[in-house]
Amino acid sequence: MTTSDLEHLISKRAAARYSSHFSQNTAPAHIKAHPEPLSLGGGMPHYGFFPVESIAVHLTDAPFSDKKLETLKADSKSKNPVIIPKVTDRPDDIIDLKNGLQYSYIQGLKPLLLFLKEFVQKVYPPAYNDWEVVLNNGAGNGLNKVCDLFLDPGDVVLVEEFTFTPFLQSVENCGGIPIPIKLDFQGKGLDYNHLKYELENWEILHPGLPLPKFLYTIPTGQNPTGLTQPLELRKKIYKLAEKFDFGILEDDPYGYLTLPPYKDVKSGKFDVDAPVTVDNFVKELAPSYLTIDTSKRVVRVETFSKVFAPGLRLGYIIANKSFIKAINNYSNISTRSPSGPSQFLVNNVIQHLGGIDGWLEWIIKVRREYIIRRNVMLDALYASDAYKKNLITVIDPDAGMFITVVINYDKSKYTPAEYKQLTSKNLFYKTIENGVAVVHGPNMAFDNLADEHCNFVRLTIASPPDHATITEATNRFTKSVEELFEEIEKT
Ligand SMILES: Cc1ncc(COP(=O)(O)O)c(C=O)c1O
Repeated sequence: MTTSDLEHLISKRAAARYSSHFSQNTAPAHIKAHPEPLSLGGGMPHYGFFPVESIAVHLTDAPFSDKKLETLKADSKSKNPVIIPKVTDRPDDIIDLKNGLQYSYIQGLKPLLLFLKEFVQKVYPPAYNDWEVVLNNGAGNGLNKVCDLFLDPGDVVLVEEFTFTPFLQSVENCGGIPIPIKLDFQGKGLDYNHLKYELENWEILHPGLPLPKFLYTIPTGQNPTGLTQPLELRKKIYKLAEKFDFGILEDDPYGYLTLPPYKDVKSGKFDVDAPVTVDNFVKELAPSYLTIDTSKRVVRVETFSKVFAPGLRLGYIIANKSFIKAINNYSNISTRSPSGPSQFLVNNVIQHLGGIDGWLEWIIKVRREYIIRRNVMLDALYASDAYKKNLITVIDPDAGMFITVVINYDKSKYTPAEYKQLTSKNLFYKTIENGVAVVHGPNMAFDNLADEHCNFVRLTIASPPDHATITEATNRFTKSVEELFEEIEKT
């Protein structure tokens, strides 16, 4: 029977778990508790044992503005550091060292959870009320926990044909079976017609396999393709999820890095230096599946990796209460609570910046740098001989930190298996010789279904130290493509 929180989708393993601790006892109601009990219970070292008295965090004004900070200008933020005290007098907003360095709640520390509840409500308001947030150790960890939530051995999960491949290992770890769904490179991400066809013909196409438990999708700034599903497509996919009763795992690390079209930035229609209000920024974000989730089947995985720093290992999951309870029970036996220092760093910096609006203003600055970098790379790609000779096609990403470059092999001359080989071997060798690292499409393919589209590479705008390096690295890449074509024309 279907329950309101779709508990029937929870794996048997996750549903059977319970949470208990040897320090927890509940007295019957007739026992009157002492009003001021002392604890000789849990082995939590008193904060007097902690070797740190306070921490001062010096913030940068904007991405890549550290050099300005080094000059210690009078108005610099470094004169106004975020102080993380041993004990705060604002325990509702600030996480102090007393709590942040202590054993703590599996779900995360209260000030940050409260912030996230308000933040999600503002940015991606779910279509129902009693949703929950839980902090965890980054999106990779979140994905693993959601696999545990849904998958028993033999259960099926639908995945995009090119995807964040570490997810597949989490599926395998639970004994799950991933089935690929095509991406529409000309369209906007997941190929709806293929998804529908698979589901409507499931028994013929996958005899003996159960219907999928959930769909794993990266709907905004898809990794690797950079494509973003429009709301209409999301609604249609959601309808299929309701009809065939599966969950949707929305992995959205790149949602805040929305990129206006290259041509709009070049023509000045979109001015990167024009002030952006927080409300306009939020309005222009691609809407989360949560906003249409009337039947509580969406699990959204978020991370601080791309907008704060990946070394924090901090992210969060939003889902219905029953799903969150099952996820907490798994955290209890695996990661336990997320790192306290990561939580106090993120929470107190956000509070220092002014809460939701201040945090979004930082994100807008990060996004601005990504827009500029995306244009620097596209400038170099479009100026290249490889582009002028039509050896490459460039996909202008809607969001995120990746640009997909399709290699235009003569498809009448090569089979998909051959151009897959040309990309992952011959082009790879050329890039090594020319001194540029890229991700070759075949490495992010789920299986042979993807061969037809394997003729691409993924270039990142995130890691180069400056714009000149982006241009130089891109030139090395396009030179590699040209050399590859010269070589294959000779054979
Ligand atoms: C699509 C996708 N999901 C998840 C992750 C993992 O993120 P995190 O650093 O939060 O574990 C990444 C990281 O690159 C990613 O691209």
